[in-house]
Amino acid sequence: MAHNVAILGFGVVGQGLAEILHDKAASLREGLGFDARIVAVSDLMKGSLYHPHGLDIPELLKAVRTTGSLDSYPDEPGLVRGRDSFDTIRESNADTVVELTYTDGKTGQPAIDHCRLAFECKKNVVMSNKGPVSLAYESLARMAEAHGVRWGFEGTVMSGTPALRMPLVALSGNDISEVRGILNGTTNFMLTRMAEGVGYDDALAEAQAKGYAEADPTSDVEGYDAQYKTAILANVVMGIPLKREDILCRGIRDISPEDIARASREGKIWKLLARCRREGGSVQASVGPVAIPLTDPLAGVGGALNAITYECDLAGPITLIGPGAGKTETGYSILIDLINIHRHQI
Ligand code: HSE
Repeated sequence: MAHNVAILGFGVVGQGLAEILHDKAASLREGLGFDARIVAVSDLMKGSLYHPHGLDIPELLKAVRTTGSLDSYPDEPGLVRGRDSFDTIRESNADTVVELTYTDGKTGQPAIDHCRLAFECKKNVVMSNKGPVSLAYESLARMAEAHGVRWGFEGTVMSGTPALRMPLVALSGNDISEVRGILNGTTNFMLTRMAEGVGYDDALAEAQAKGYAEADPTSDVEGYDAQYKTAILANVVMGIPLKREDILCRGIRDISPEDIARASREGKIWKLLARCRREGGSVQASVGPVAIPLTDPLAGVGGALNAITYECDLAGPITLIGPGAGKTETGYSILIDLINIHRHQI
């Protein structure tokens, strides 16, 4: 039976997911017995569509790419237009809500309320939105469990690179005392370009054009995005109920061309490093720029790549390197959560 998916927020990631579901439909069906159809898309700016039998993906993509709006999607019998995100959750026949709205790191809204309503309606939620996981992990995880549904958020840290599933599944049994690494693709891309001589504003514009940056890139350049991800890793992987405000945070805005040149003369390169360490009964967590020697393995992690090292008591330090942002990569992170929901249902 096909999984019915409702997508809230149809920006870069939503469109990336739609492309994957369309392009890989046959191989997912044949290889994994996985079949998904998009029954609803609701976007605050682009409009909203619902059809209980599924929407036509090429028409969806054509509508947003040619007119920037879902209003130009062709009429057909049974098509419903104009439902807001909450009615889409409540009234659609979706079994999984894919929450891809804008990350609000202060309130987590409206995404937290989307999760709560979906769980009450006995629908799974899959998201790359960092707000709910960084602000309300424990209560939402309990709520999903109480309603017998699943909550997937692999894409909140390192997009489609399995930064959460790898420690939780492949490294289970270890005590992880520290996570540290490069968790923001935009700033890593910018710092790489700035080391090549590109100015700050041009480097940021390039990162935005490539779809790495948040809707408001302040979150990237001030370090908040890496701070949310550090909170998620602490809560989900290390079992530490760390809040965002417990994590010291400095971004890259103050790094001047002189700082870049000095680092280069000293055989170093700037990286925005995130770290969370458990020491006895206390926890130290921070995000900030550090000039690291070119001989450090992290120095070679350039562009939008991310890297994370897990200090495991049994397996030792394990490092994972992979994309941390991007349309297809983050679209894939949603797919892997959908596939895992499917695996638990068969
Ligand atoms: N803006 C984020 C980044 C996207 O650059 O890493 C992925 O969370």
